[in-house]
Amino acid sequence: MKMNVSEKQRIRVMEGDWSPLSVGRHIVDGGLQEDPFYVMDVGEVVARYHTWRELMPRVEPFYAVKCNDDKLLVATLAALGTGFDCASKAEIELVTSIGVHPERIIFANPAKMASHIKYSARAGVDTMTFDSEAELMKIKQHMPHAQLVLRIRCDAAKARCPLGIKFGCDPVTEAPGLLKLAAVLGLQVIGVSFHVGSGTQETGVYLRAIQHSRAVFSLAADVGHANMRLLDIGGGFPGALHSDIREVSQVINGALETYFSDRSVRVIAEPGRYFAAAAYTLFAMVHSSRRVTQKDQEGVEQSHTMYFINVGVYGSFNCVLYDQFTCYTNEGVVAETIKPKCEKPQPCSVWGPSCDSKDCVLPNTFLPPLSTGDWLMFRDMGAYSLCITSAFNGFPVPKVRAVIDSSVWSVLKDLWPLSDSHFCRGDPMTGPQSADQPILPSPTGTPMPCLSHSTEPVLVECALK
Ligand SMILES: Cc1ncc(COP(=O)(O)O)c(C=O)c1O
Repeated sequence: MKMNVSEKQRIRVMEGDWSPLSVGRHIVDGGLQEDPFYVMDVGEVVARYHTWRELMPRVEPFYAVKCNDDKLLVATLAALGTGFDCASKAEIELVTSIGVHPERIIFANPAKMASHIKYSARAGVDTMTFDSEAELMKIKQHMPHAQLVLRIRCDAAKARCPLGIKFGCDPVTEAPGLLKLAAVLGLQVIGVSFHVGSGTQETGVYLRAIQHSRAVFSLAADVGHANMRLLDIGGGFPGALHSDIREVSQVINGALETYFSDRSVRVIAEPGRYFAAAAYTLFAMVHSSRRVTQKDQEGVEQSHTMYFINVGVYGSFNCVLYDQFTCYTNEGVVAETIKPKCEKPQPCSVWGPSCDSKDCVLPNTFLPPLSTGDWLMFRDMGAYSLCITSAFNGFPVPKVRAVIDSSVWSVLKDLWPLSDSHFCRGDPMTGPQSADQPILPSPTGTPMPCLSHSTEPVLVECALK
């Protein structure tokens, strides 16, 4: 596959023992780094891809680009062979620009703008979802040859972001009418999709949703859609570092065996969080603090420290605003100090840098006493964070420092269109972000960063080209 990744996004190939924490420490050592940054571990994405294929061999992952459109993540998944769920013209453009064939894309937004449907038709992305009469009329007008997938609603009892309130028709009361209308309009319905809610807390919902899908398949055949061949089980899979898809995969595999034992039905999913969350670790610096004393509900005075860090809810922590119970659960935002501290954790709160009082990352937490210049680490920050980040109040959007273990690299490098000239050895991790460092021309004319030549740790740097 040809991938035209032309960005100057660089990957450091790591040898020996390392972790996102050690990489982060290395970057901030020396005190020159002041802006927040992510460390992106490409190997985490690769490992998750293999786990998925092992546990759900029948379900093809179509990565949901909306979750994190970092080109390196998208290009890595493309190289591994996933498909893609795109929700807009720009997402289709991004995915096709790195050489992904349009057949590996589903336009999975049930409410599309007419111009985006026309673009999809031109790009050759034929498969798209719908859940309303109005959408059918639009598709009839702009892309009558589309391969349609009916999105039904089936909600998990609990999810971080329930989606059913916005999308998905009722499989019993609304689906029959929509399927009939599509048939009358001469449109081709080829499958059913659902999304049980992002960050789903209930695995049994996939069984219910697959059961409903089976009934809709039969209905569709009854009204003349003779070529029903695609089941799209959406997203909702956990993405945190030690989360496990074993249980949910068993539910899904069992339900598929029961309701879709016919192998002629292709099964895809649209995982976002699953691939993106754990691969990105965010590092943020404490730049100010304030000691406050407040009376608690019993009127007893309690002291508390407010820490101000260089990224907040209008930046990478926007998940605090959007996810329903992000920062109050174990799955949410958790701050860790990057240097060992022997003092006992004290009650505190963590605030973003903007002048808005809503910009609070952690309203009630415990951390050992911190000083200005101390760094905090936040794991699992790759989902619905980077792509929504704004520079509100003039605070910079964190840059991504990508790393990969040399063992994973040796396998992936043959899938990426890279040559040896894209590598050099050095120690690019110290000091401010490499994008701010002088860029020297490489032997092939590709700009390469100016690097020092210390060998601890040994790093190999490449530019995707
Ligand atoms: C249509 C669709 N598919 C897939 C996803 C990805 O979901 P998740 O990140 O929960 O896997 C979303 C998230 O909003 C979505 O709207």
